[in-house]
Amino acid sequence: MAVQNTFSDSQSEYLALTAELMDIRKRGETPLAFVRTYGCQQNVADSEKIKGMLKVAGYSFTENVEDADFILFNTCAVREHAEDRVFGNVGALKKLKRRHPQILIALCGCMMEEKHVADRIYQSFPFVGLVFGTHCLHQFPELLYKSLVDGKRVFVRDNDDKKVYEGIPTFRDGTFKGWLPIMYGCDNFCTYCIVPYVRGRERSREPEVIINEAREMISSGFKDITLLGQNVNSYGKGLSPRPTFAQLIGEIDKIEGDYWLRFMTSHPKDCTRELIDTIAQSKHISLHLHLPFQSGSDRILKAMNRHYDREKYLAIVNYAKEKIPNVSLTSDVIVGFPGETYEDFQQTLSLIREVGFTSLFTFIYSPRVGTPAASLDDPITAEEKGKWFQELLDTQEEIAASRCASMVSKVERVLIEEKSKKDGYLSGRTSGNIIVECPGDENLIGTFQNVQITEARNWILKGRIT
Ligand code: SAH
Ligand code: SF4
Ligand code: F3S
Repeated sequence: MAVQNTFSDSQSEYLALTAELMDIRKRGETPLAFVRTYGCQQNVADSEKIKGMLKVAGYSFTENVEDADFILFNTCAVREHAEDRVFGNVGALKKLKRRHPQILIALCGCMMEEKHVADRIYQSFPFVGLVFGTHCLHQFPELLYKSLVDGKRVFVRDNDDKKVYEGIPTFRDGTFKGWLPIMYGCDNFCTYCIVPYVRGRERSREPEVIINEAREMISSGFKDITLLGQNVNSYGKGLSPRPTFAQLIGEIDKIEGDYWLRFMTSHPKDCTRELIDTIAQSKHISLHLHLPFQSGSDRILKAMNRHYDREKYLAIVNYAKEKIPNVSLTSDVIVGFPGETYEDFQQTLSLIREVGFTSLFTFIYSPRVGTPAASLDDPITAEEKGKWFQELLDTQEEIAASRCASMVSKVERVLIEEKSKKDGYLSGRTSGNIIVECPGDENLIGTFQNVQITEARNWILKGRIT
């Protein structure tokens, strides 16, 4: 069961001590921090907490790594490619540390919970002064101060993963689009996935704390809030009384204001009709369901330990289509799981045709040390998997294009997010998370606009504000 703890006074004291120390050691007017985040929104949300703590310790932020007094990479372990990028980018900091020995280079996040990775960093990158895993986030002030004050290398990981820490200051990257974690960790142990090993057991935040945070975000101008968890559908495990995720989001939906609520990720095995009914009846929940199916083959789903089959998946999708008109469905898919045959892969293609997804996040299977799938026979060559992957992309491109084409001439409500430097167009997203581009003034960023769709280009819509 999750124990709810408060960010301790002693950690706040460490932030004050760091502020004093950095007053002397900074290179410029104020101490500067450079924080780079890899991986999923959970990591983005963690980085926002780290920035919140750094801000209290007197730091400002820079986008230029050369100027920073403190450099932090928040890492992701989900696929080999993500890890390789981190190793490459850390290696490139060696020269910077040689030029400015007083800077502190730190690494945190999911990769740092893997023992073999932390050991490699310790041995091969002596200029990295601080390493901490995902379970030590609430101790960051103390770890930062200790590594600054005596210059010794501090490496910590694998701490207590059963607690939820409230009250950590947060410095959000956005002003109208934001992340709101509702739970941490994962209990599902899909056989390919490293997340449960690096994020620990599933634990939920108390509903009142989440609702209050949502209320604060809405009253300070947030227009698009995404509730985060590895499997939001099992929200509430360990809480007493136990609320369902549908109840939680239904309560948040009652908060007055003009905003959209999103959530991710929704595991098909726990996706309920209650949730779909709640979306259908809500005022603010976006008409979008991100429901990763991973594979269309029952045999592979079983080997992945996903606890649903194709039939169950399609039953949820069909219920969602019936209750939520024009629901936008998106998903994650893995190609080339060990033992997958071309026939299994064809099942994946037929599933995506049957569902008609708006978009897909597609991945080639990447073996992760310590996961059950990593020790399975994997006879299909990387080249062959690459061909299947391309076939998947081509098929999805056709599906997305025809879905987008069906939206031409409709009027869509769009949250305007940015202005492109390249072509000067505004771009934003619909409730179904489809990108829309239109001409318009920069001061519309952060507002909802009705856009008449005039053209569909693959998965992007073009239009004009009405
Ligand atoms: N909790 C989420 C997923 C988090 S990881 C869920 O269950 O849907 C995001 C995605 O990365 C997964 O959905 C999966 O498609 C992909 N992924 C995870 N481990 C992977 C691996 N070892 N190789 C390739 N893709 C992987
Ligand atoms: Fe990984 Fe499965 Fe947990 Fe998602 S539900 S984080 S894919 S183990
Ligand atoms: Fe990566 Fe960790 Fe997220 S492994 S995908 S950053 S939970």
